[in-house]
Amino acid sequence: MHKQWPMAMASTFLFPCLFFFLCSTLFPSTLHSIKDGFVVPLIHRDSPQSPFYNHSMTTYDRLLGAAHRSVSRQNHLSSRRRTASNSNAHEITTRLVHDNLEYIMTFYIGTPPSKLTVFVDTGSDFIWAKCQICEKCHLSPIFEPLRSFSYTNFSCGTESCRHLDEFPGRKTCIKDMELCTYALQYLDDSKSAGYLAKEKFSYKQIRGVLEDLGYMEFGCSNTYSDHFRGLQDGCAGLNRGHFSFITQLGIRKFSHCFVLPEYEARGSSMLFGSVAKIYGDVTPYLEEKEDLYYVNLEGISIGDQRVPIPAGTFNLTFWDEGGFAVDTGTTYTNLRSEGFEPFLNMMRQVVHLQQRRGPPPFELCYEAKPQDFYNVPFVTFHLTGVDLKLEKQNTFVELRLGFWCLAIIRSTDSLSILGSFQQRGLMVGYDLDRKIVSFGSADCSTV
Ligand SMILES: *[C@@H]1O[C@H](CO)[C@@H](O)[C@H](O)[C@H]1NC(C)=O
Ligand SMILES: *[C@@H]1O[C@H](CO)[C@@H](O)[C@H](O)[C@H]1NC(C)=O
Ligand SMILES: *[C@@H]1O[C@H](CO)[C@@H](O)[C@H](O)[C@H]1NC(C)=O
Repeated sequence: MHKQWPMAMASTFLFPCLFFFLCSTLFPSTLHSIKDGFVVPLIHRDSPQSPFYNHSMTTYDRLLGAAHRSVSRQNHLSSRRRTASNSNAHEITTRLVHDNLEYIMTFYIGTPPSKLTVFVDTGSDFIWAKCQICEKCHLSPIFEPLRSFSYTNFSCGTESCRHLDEFPGRKTCIKDMELCTYALQYLDDSKSAGYLAKEKFSYKQIRGVLEDLGYMEFGCSNTYSDHFRGLQDGCAGLNRGHFSFITQLGIRKFSHCFVLPEYEARGSSMLFGSVAKIYGDVTPYLEEKEDLYYVNLEGISIGDQRVPIPAGTFNLTFWDEGGFAVDTGTTYTNLRSEGFEPFLNMMRQVVHLQQRRGPPPFELCYEAKPQDFYNVPFVTFHLTGVDLKLEKQNTFVELRLGFWCLAIIRSTDSLSILGSFQQRGLMVGYDLDRKIVSFGSADCSTV
């Protein structure tokens, strides 16, 4: 019966091009590109190449903005964790804070393909994209499902739709025959809602050719509040949950390399599949928690001195307290107070530069010249199996000329996060078969 389908279609539409689309819809081709792996450029939201770049902002505004986003991101991850462990399902929704992510990658969706600029999020599983589900409104280039030959809806009773329920409140349809709908409720009361759909994704190769990635389920968002009017087309989740980009594509390893600011114009990269680079020292991540990549932070040193932080401070408890996660969506590393306080005190004693109060959330700043940091000891994070020695430029941030701040901040609760600022100039790899995160030094501008 399947065999007759395309033939019947072909005689109805005597249009070879359309026939091709229908065929590829009904019989997805083998995904050779995925077996070989693929590379996607990453753009930092504050780089001049970014669609979010705001010319009227100063460097100070941008760096402080990133710090505020780090706090809001940390709040979001903690609050979602509390929500997930709360058993009162009716009270809770999937809570997020809009617009607090840092790195952008570009994909194409649909047939014919539309460009999609999405934030990368290693702390989430969901892919969602702005969709325009109406015939008359023309706010292109937003993806219009009605114009795509490869778009499909789901009904509420399907297996796929039921998976939405893994996060209480995310599935919004009730009757089996209804269309499957989802909603994401954000911390600031903004919303993103729409249909669960399936669509063909592709990416642009270095040569400029579009390469198929195959079909993925995603949230086709047709309701979003004012907050989303901007250039954000959506999000691509990279954790190990059901709907995640890597889970759906069957990708078992990926790595990213964030360039140092002086190479920003060359761009960072994200490597998926066999091209991913896993090297350097490795540390296991906590397999049981698929929402984040938790690693074991045993302690911190400044120079040769170990900061007096009680053992187990950063451990994740049975009750989901504590924990130290590697994240791409948070800029500045933040540490829970029990670890941050002793670290800050030792920093104050060890660094002999003119101390200044920082604009919150920065707590320790200096009036200094770049060469003054030459004699400042290095900060090392001791993960199980990895001594992550931070470059000076990954430890301090120059907010404005001659005014530097410690780029590690205080967490607002028990969750601590290794941010992207501290991962610059490193190839950070995730190997799902070995269940490890790797850290190798790299010149990310030549990856
Ligand atoms: C750009 O930055 C300026 C100065 O901070 C701000 O007033 C303005 O609202 C920003 N524009 C956008 C579109 O965010
Ligand atoms: C999704 O399904 C509904 C109901 O069957 C239909 O009206 C709508 O056109 C579909 N959307 C697309 C883009 O196919
Ligand atoms: C913290 O976690 C590590 C690794 O799982 C374990 O070896 C250690 O005993 C824990 N420490 C405390 C105080 O719970």
